[in-house]
Amino acid sequence: MSMNEHYDQIRGRYLKRRAFLRYTAGAAAAVAIAPGQAIASSYPRPSFKPLANGRSASHVLADGYQAQILLAWGDGLDGSRTTALPPGAEAQKNLFGYNNDFLAYTPLSGSERGLLGINHEYSLPHLMFPGYSGDQASLNGLSDDEVACEMASLGHSIVEVQREKDGWRVVRNSPYARRIHAGTSIHIDGPAAGHSLMQTREDPSGLQALGTIGCCSGGKTPWGTVLIAEENVGDFFRGAWLEDVIPNDLAVKDPDWVYLRWGQVDKRFDLAQEPNELNRFGWIVEYNPRKPDQAPVKRTALGRFEHESATVVAVPGHPVVVYSGDDAESQYLYRFVSQGIYEGPQKPAAGLLSKGTLYCAKFNDDGTGRWLALRHGDGPLSAANDFPDQATVLIHARRAATLLGATPMDRPEGIAISPAGSVYVALTKNRSKTAANAANPRPRNTAGHILEILPPEQNGASAHWDAQFGWDILLQGGPQDLAGENEGDYGPAMAAESWLSNPDNLSFDPQGRLWIASDGMDSFGFSDGLWCTPTDGPGRAAPALFFRCPRGAELCSPEFTPDGETMFASIQHPAQERGSTFAKPSTRWPDFDVALPPRPAILAITRAGGGAVGG
Ligand code: FEO
Ligand code: CA
Ligand code: CA
Ligand code: CA
Repeated sequence: MSMNEHYDQIRGRYLKRRAFLRYTAGAAAAVAIAPGQAIASSYPRPSFKPLANGRSASHVLADGYQAQILLAWGDGLDGSRTTALPPGAEAQKNLFGYNNDFLAYTPLSGSERGLLGINHEYSLPHLMFPGYSGDQASLNGLSDDEVACEMASLGHSIVEVQREKDGWRVVRNSPYARRIHAGTSIHIDGPAAGHSLMQTREDPSGLQALGTIGCCSGGKTPWGTVLIAEENVGDFFRGAWLEDVIPNDLAVKDPDWVYLRWGQVDKRFDLAQEPNELNRFGWIVEYNPRKPDQAPVKRTALGRFEHESATVVAVPGHPVVVYSGDDAESQYLYRFVSQGIYEGPQKPAAGLLSKGTLYCAKFNDDGTGRWLALRHGDGPLSAANDFPDQATVLIHARRAATLLGATPMDRPEGIAISPAGSVYVALTKNRSKTAANAANPRPRNTAGHILEILPPEQNGASAHWDAQFGWDILLQGGPQDLAGENEGDYGPAMAAESWLSNPDNLSFDPQGRLWIASDGMDSFGFSDGLWCTPTDGPGRAAPALFFRCPRGAELCSPEFTPDGETMFASIQHPAQERGSTFAKPSTRWPDFDVALPPRPAILAITRAGGGAVGG
């Protein structure tokens, strides 16, 4: 629940606390790192010369680096380049999809050969197909095959990649290459599997979903699986009534909407005809990239909301913890703690995400916080509040977290764990909030900020499974003079020429530095980009701009090979700007070929002459 306190009062209290609660690195707990394992106590500042903010048709990369286009929309999963777009719907089912977001590198042979698992989040029909202006009236004219092509372009792609002397290439005839799309069979697992709210006419068992959509960011587990976060799934459904029936449920857009035709082409996406279908989306999906014959699984124990990401912490001898944010205005931050214990990378871990407890975060304004369990029967989560069982609590996690008093956040996006065990959460913006709180201190947040969550220590390791935590603000986005919002309290090192706003995807490189991707700089007149900063020591919260996106695009999911020498970067929605169309896009990145529209693409970024990306 929002605090009705004046911003200045909150900030005054917070700043006093900030003066004595100063974080120091020292503990060790990161993905699959044993407690007590030594880590560096400070991290190198990036060595590249920072770029300046700007906007251009192509991407701009720091001096001394090179970017290779590995794969783009419409290409074959064997690396063959497309020569004509759009593909038909049947062809699209086997081609690289649209709007790539999260990217996971799974090594097959260290940093030389591996699998890339890549999310495809949403379609942009006016940039994918000729003849549409992008307004609703024009999009009502989409053909059935075009809509089916959109459906086939979403989901996930798996390709095998190999590093050779002259760069990376996609491996031909890989046994691992596959597409997962809006029509792929996916098992439903966990407490909500088979529940009456999960049953549809096509699947009376409630155990077998079709497809994954809205695949935004995600995560990787130390047992070799990849997690797909289903985010804005309500966008694809037709029907405006759900918000009235179930307050605080996943937002469903009104019938005049880009994806209106989905519900006409496939009745699954029309809530009037299949009211439970939407309950089967909004989950975390787990799959094993090394097992191409194995169906993905929706893990309902992790709750249903607009999942941005799924960031895993697994310390041997303890439960597995998965952090995930609900990326919508004034929604919440969540954490899942497994019932089973993680025993190390060599032990079976197949069921660890099937059973456990989901929690939502409550941030106190004294710099402490508490995880509140979404457990049926506890407090307000009872039949009296229309929660007859645990499945209903998980399906309607937003409503449950609201009743528990979770803290409304400024849209949680990327989450990353530092080598020291601190959790970083990007809060991208919140333009329509009605009340500030200490962890989201701007009364109206247009430029976003990054929170730092400090789990308590146990035996020298960060205890991510503990109910308590401490927190701080790493930085606030925007220029120093952002009117009425950024008063220099946080992020004082933000450079005048290359400040960042609207943090979205976060990653740590193997040297322990935080990489921050933005999504929203366009509203300040600049392209989005990627910055690097240490989170400790003298360079803390001093982001240096490394990569500037082509017009209209954002960079998602910077992902490093284990040696840190390659960064894979997912460039999403190039030319997504007002007035931009298939025939007249604002940029034709990355091909700049009049025969091809702009294409979302994967880059492999390396340093000329070798060495770690970032220096
Ligand atoms: Fe899909 Fe919240 O970005
Ligand atoms: Ca995002
Ligand atoms: Ca986005
Ligand atoms: Ca975003």
